[in-house]
Amino acid sequence: MSADLDEMFAMGRKAQAAAYAPHSRFRVGAVVRAASGRLYAGANVENAAYPVGTCAEAGAIAAMVLGGDRVIAEVLVIGDGEALCTPCGACRQRLREFAADTVPVHVAGPDGIRRSFTLGELLPHSFGPDNLA
Ligand code: THU
Repeated sequence: MSADLDEMFAMGRKAQAAAYAPHSRFRVGAVVRAASGRLYAGANVENAAYPVGTCAEAGAIAAMVLGGDRVIAEVLVIGDGEALCTPCGACRQRLREFAADTVPVHVAGPDGIRRSFTLGELLPHSFGPDNLA
């Protein structure tokens, strides 16, 4: 792993540990690297009214916007379990708002990065801000 990815992974693990997931018991951490180089983390925050819960990616994106960044250059998502913790469909679209098709999305487990995709692979032929330009 590159030093940059190491940093993203460490930040993702920390965010994952802070997740509020008493209902699913599935903690997720997400980190976005903005084009400015700054890193922003988020974790899932569940709710007793299940659909009201928010995903880790949504938290990281909100932190990024609050931090003044608008362009995502790289993404890392970390979850436990055997299966790849790829971003859910809604989060792929959330990322699409700020990320190009070519942006790498690294999917990690406790052991490290398991697989890397581009956003275009995860969300092909997407509808994005350009459609409204
Ligand atoms: N979750 C995320 O935070 N990100 C994803 O992309 C996949 C799912 C969360 C939502 C919920 O709190 C828990 O994982 C189980 O679905």
